[in-house]
Amino acid sequence: MVKDKNIPQHVAIIMDGNGRWAKQKGLDRLQGHYEGVVSVREVIQTSLDIGVKYLTVYAFSSENWGRPKSEVEGLMELFCKTISLEIPSLVDKNVRVIFIGERQSLNASVLDSIQLCEQTTQKNTALTLVVALNYGSRREIVSAVKEISQAVCSGEMSVEEISESVVSDHLFTKNIPDPDLLIRTSGECRLSNFLMWQLSYTEFYFTKTLWPDFHKEAFLEAINYYKTRSRRYGLVTE
Ligand code: FPP
Repeated sequence: MVKDKNIPQHVAIIMDGNGRWAKQKGLDRLQGHYEGVVSVREVIQTSLDIGVKYLTVYAFSSENWGRPKSEVEGLMELFCKTISLEIPSLVDKNVRVIFIGERQSLNASVLDSIQLCEQTTQKNTALTLVVALNYGSRREIVSAVKEISQAVCSGEMSVEEISESVVSDHLFTKNIPDPDLLIRTSGECRLSNFLMWQLSYTEFYFTKTLWPDFHKEAFLEAINYYKTRSRRYGLVTE
């Protein structure tokens, strides 16, 4: 496949509609999440093929703990199994994996698989896969505000020194460029507490396709939409 310079450097995805996909087929909701992993694999491979450098996927929000216990436990088991099983293939594809979100409420097996995955893939350079797990944008911003306040209170930093880049450096996404394109599947048009600071100038693409049905062609359609956009960052075009 020919690499093109109008390809977004960073694509973020809200992978929505697994439950509805399963329901339509008379399956358990968890089956939808398992099928969703197939779409994640396909989007990773396509990102590598076309030259996307960062791919962020919203796997579990800080609000998702409120789902039925069986679904939460099933999802944690799915994360644990998938992350561990995929490591050799991610290494083979030269993919670096980073997890963003609060780690303290995750169980030991999920934590172990996350740490192993991050350590094993840390030197890879073809694509950075950012997995948002127990992630919430408001909490992320609150935590940044607390850290910056502490730095000011201890005299390490003055109030005047607080800037956009200081705030960015206190987010989980420190050192990761902001997304160029956000995709949300399943027809919902909202952010659901995802990367609210980082998406300030991002192009949004919403599709009715449910996440387990979101394959290579659907991803390329979103990329083609991005290519038609003229990004002005609040300025005017000449
Ligand atoms: C939203 O669909 C999807 C999730 C909460 C889970 C997404 C997780 C995966 C696809 C697994 C990815 C795994 C790794 C390791 C990256 P929903 O359940 O809200 O669907 P609904 O709105 O139709 O009910």
